[in-house]
Amino acid sequence: MFAAPLHPLFVHFPIALLTVGTLVYLYIRLKPAQDQAWHRISLFLIATGWLTGLLALTTGAINFSSVPDSHPAHPTGVAHATLAFVTEVFYLIGLRLALKPRDQRFAWLFLTLGLLALIATGYFGGELVYHWKLGIAG
Ligand code: HEM
Repeated sequence: MFAAPLHPLFVHFPIALLTVGTLVYLYIRLKPAQDQAWHRISLFLIATGWLTGLLALTTGAINFSSVPDSHPAHPTGVAHATLAFVTEVFYLIGLRLALKPRDQRFAWLFLTLGLLALIATGYFGGELVYHWKLGIAG
């Protein structure tokens, strides 16, 4: 059913890069004197996390396409996939706002919403593997 375990290989990149990038961004924004170098580093981490998120979306969609609608894990998979898309949309908006100095005011909100959606995505991904045993031979 699952030809190549590429999805579990790729998911670590967006999870790590988006989490660290968002935390650094929020920390820098909270400080009275903002460090421009760390600001740029946080945006670089978020941008690379977003791009690697596209790989996670693609490989996840390929794996999920072999799960029949009647499979008991299907609703969990739909929730997981929807949250993954929502994560990418929130981060795209947050990054777009954070890149323009005059639009920066609400970037933190979209990046925080993205981080929460990412955590929920990972939770449902774990359910797929550890509860429903998707991707596990046997
Ligand atoms: C930002 C995008 C995504 C992230 C961060 C992500 C994260 C995860 C994580 C952490 C797991 C558990 C892996 C493990 O413990 O080995 C997982 C499993 C899974 N995900 Fe995703 N996921 C994403 C997008 C998607 C999408 C869009 C789909 C389907 C359309 C999908 C379908 C699956 C499936 C079927 C599994 C079960 C294991 C497998 O077949 O590889 N994922 N995902």
